[in-house]
Amino acid sequence: MAQRADGRNLIVRYPMIDRVVHWTIAGTFVYVMLTGLALFSPPFFWLADVFGGGPVIRYWHPIIALVFLAALAVLLVRWFKDMKVDADDRRWIGHFREFVTGDEKVVADAGRFNFGQKALFWVQSASAVLLLLSGVTLWFPRSFDVGLRQAGFIVHDLSAIVAIGALIVHIYMGVFVTPGSVKAMTQGTVSARWAEAHHARWLKALRSATPQARH
Ligand code: HEM
Repeated sequence: MAQRADGRNLIVRYPMIDRVVHWTIAGTFVYVMLTGLALFSPPFFWLADVFGGGPVIRYWHPIIALVFLAALAVLLVRWFKDMKVDADDRRWIGHFREFVTGDEKVVADAGRFNFGQKALFWVQSASAVLLLLSGVTLWFPRSFDVGLRQAGFIVHDLSAIVAIGALIVHIYMGVFVTPGSVKAMTQGTVSARWAEAHHARWLKALRSATPQARH
């Protein structure tokens, strides 16, 4: 819990450690995505020059990818409990239409994360695992036979497309659909009104754990 200038309570949504890890994930993913595109296809070759040239990005792309994966693993451990899909998520799925059309009140009794956020998180995590497994075959090509390398290419490209698609949806939802989310991830806190509007069940649980979270 934190205090606003007007004395009302702010609710801590993302402590410092979560924010540092999240923005590490975001920064490393963007680097890996742009350098990956530069290695992938001629229309993106110019990106290689932006990041220091072909040999430089060939060296750093997999190493920064490991930093991305390590940071994602930290979030996975820290948020595993809150990201578990539970029985209440079924109601949310049933009202997905209302969520998309902006009538979030119908489904706003979400826990810390709603089903959409959970689904995206698991898609991002699964594509990260596939990127790692397929990436190893491309990183050390001499250690794998041609069949595995070809499979590696296909899996790497497809999982990269899924990961980039998921990121576009994630940024769109956080920045445009749910005002206040970016502040949650930059400053760490949200108002009780924001929590009530988007994650009422989470707020209720916090209030029963810390009775001072009233306003
Ligand atoms: C690159 C730009 C990115 C931006 C602008 C961004 C923005 C945000 C924002 C605003 C939130 C808070 C949402 C809320 O509490 O309602 C958030 C949460 C989160 N971010 Fe990101 N993010 C970015 C990249 C990433 C990447 C690359 C990943 C993982 C691969 C990721 C994974 C998550 C997860 C799992 C959450 C919590 C659940 C959710 O809100 O979806 N983010 N992000």
